[in-house]
Amino acid sequence: MATTLSFHSPSKPTSHFHFQLKPKPSPPLFAKVSFFRCRASVQTLVAVEPEPVFTSVKTFAPATVANLGPGFDFLGCAVDGLGDHVTLRVDPSVRAGEILISEITGTATKLSTNPLRNCAGIAAIATMKMLGIRSVGLSLDLHKGLPLGSGLGSSAASAAAAAVAVNEIFGRKLRKEELVLAGLESEAKVSGYHADNIAPAIMGGFVLIRSYEPLDLKPLRFPSDKDLFFVLASPEFEAPTKKMRAALPAEIPMAHHVWNSSQAAALVAAVLEGDAVMLGKALSGDRVVEPTRAPLIPGMEAVKKAALEAGAFGCTISGAGPTAVAVVDVEEKGEEIGEKMVEAFMKVGNLKSVASVKKLDKIGARLVSSISR
Ligand code: HSE
Repeated sequence: MATTLSFHSPSKPTSHFHFQLKPKPSPPLFAKVSFFRCRASVQTLVAVEPEPVFTSVKTFAPATVANLGPGFDFLGCAVDGLGDHVTLRVDPSVRAGEILISEITGTATKLSTNPLRNCAGIAAIATMKMLGIRSVGLSLDLHKGLPLGSGLGSSAASAAAAAVAVNEIFGRKLRKEELVLAGLESEAKVSGYHADNIAPAIMGGFVLIRSYEPLDLKPLRFPSDKDLFFVLASPEFEAPTKKMRAALPAEIPMAHHVWNSSQAAALVAAVLEGDAVMLGKALSGDRVVEPTRAPLIPGMEAVKKAALEAGAFGCTISGAGPTAVAVVDVEEKGEEIGEKMVEAFMKVGNLKSVASVKKLDKIGARLVSSISR
């Protein structure tokens, strides 16, 4: 039974050696890691081209924490109070079926206004394609609340706000899960084909990506009577997702695969049970991705240590970093932990940082205001 055997761990050195013989190291078993994923393509999903129901809409999409430690590429959640806004208008001066990005304001104004090279533009175009829009031109303003390359799902927030804006202006014909596909088009172009930011940015709460092909998303409901706070410490350091993905290990030992799988399972159980302590422990336990990325973020290891010493239930890198995320169940405690994390970023990483304490955003991308036709 070769297959069964290959799943056993390498034999451990036994404890009864009488001589000081070094046990012969067994070859480690590796799990091959491949980042090739089949991509679901965006197709027109509505039979009849819808008419706009508003002349203008404004939408908001929240920041997200992807991975949550061992949930690399398959688990993420939305956090409240931070995010991007999109204002979208029906614009007769724009060619029918096209979109123009008229203005980008906020924390990142140097982004391209070419819709084919901008997260909001790419997601908006994909949503227009899904709706079959051929007769109306649109113009879009993007207000960035999130800095780029911060580990808080900045590109996903822009894409989510844009996809939801297009859907809303045409009478909400697409489901949130369908809009995730439009957002994924954008994520694939700018940072990699991963849905753990865009799915929670659109759907809110915690989302598990059970499968990419076909895309199968499972919202995980954190009980409303339980408390959970995220302490986010963001240093002045850019960690582009593409670069941080290039640093990932190509192979992992089977033992790490087993360990990470058990932590990811515990993470899901902790979310469903509202167990912040178990959630923290599981989130802190990544042995696959965090160890290769943390050394690339000055001070990250010290920040994690400081957060845990200050009483956090767990701490890891938020998404691809450089933001560090810790979890706790009391807001004031979160503020104290945040101060310690900021101190450690400065002391060890020589990086200025800011900390904030946030709750879960349970709603996801949404309409903020609209002007009827
Ligand atoms: N899962 C992605 C990564 C999230 O860690 O590369 C990026 O925000």
